Amino acid sequence: MKKLLNISDLNQNDFENILKFVDDLNFQSENNLTDKNIGLIFEKNSTRTRLSFQVGINQLNGNYIDVRLEELNLNRFESYEDTFEIMSCYLDYLIFRTNDHKKLELAHKYFKKPIINALSDLSHPCQAISDMYTLKENFGSIDNLNIVWMGDMNNVLFSLLEVIVFTKNTKVDVLTNEKIYLQNKDKFNLNTNIDFHFEINQDIISKADCIMTDVFTSMNDKEDKESLLSKFQVNNKIISMTGEKSVFMHCLPAKIGSEVTEDVIKGKKSIVLTQARNRLIAQKGILKWLSI
Ligand code: CP
Ligand code: NVA
Repeated sequence: MKKLLNISDLNQNDFENILKFVDDLNFQSENNLTDKNIGLIFEKNSTRTRLSFQVGINQLNGNYIDVRLEELNLNRFESYEDTFEIMSCYLDYLIFRTNDHKKLELAHKYFKKPIINALSDLSHPCQAISDMYTLKENFGSIDNLNIVWMGDMNNVLFSLLEVIVFTKNTKVDVLTNEKIYLQNKDKFNLNTNIDFHFEINQDIISKADCIMTDVFTSMNDKEDKESLLSKFQVNNKIISMTGEKSVFMHCLPAKIGSEVTEDVIKGKKSIVLTQARNRLIAQKGILKWLSI
């Protein structure tokens, strides 16, 4: 049974198939989800992920059902285990955004049908797939790229570091705070082409094809990390160190003035709107992969 809790649930073939489906121009008119009922659970806020899944499911002729956990008997005394098991009596797939990755694993155990992680505290695989598609669209290939990530070691970075195993020679340099690195290094011990740095490194930035960042403080964070990460803000000084063809990426939502300045996110190197737009076709590619 297919699932997408983390990028590591995919093999090279799955990943390449998803990108091929995303790229398939005829795909827009396919009805891969006819008769499929898909539950959407969002425990946390979402603009892009929720709407792109909803619209994508409509375009593929499927049905989605917004499941509000607070309206279920889970809110009274029914367990997660029983709730997910009962949901699998009615729903074909589950798309689940949660504040606790363990709930996704629990859902996978009891729902017994395909589940997609729509972001957890640990990872954001749908974002990573979509971003690889955006990089491919922009550079013609996802191989031999230098990606510089500036800021927090969070769910979006985790999935980015997982997804680059499917590329050839693409490298990620992570510029982050040492304390944050020490807290996260075991979780991020992914065996790929990755280096960590704790200072702004002009040499590395000058080789970047892509500067990528995300909010310094994520939805799950209890503490504000602004003071730890402020020196890793992506501003014009950083962008001016990069080459002519470099791009700026951010999964959004952005906290302007924190991890990125307004002139950068609205500037000519920013491809954040393309990134957001591509979420729709990427979700459809993921759903097609799940349904065949
Ligand atoms: N990038 C992303 O997942 O955005 P949302 O939180 O708005 O879904
Ligand atoms: N790291 C962010 C991503 C939002 C799409 C968060 O978890 O809040």
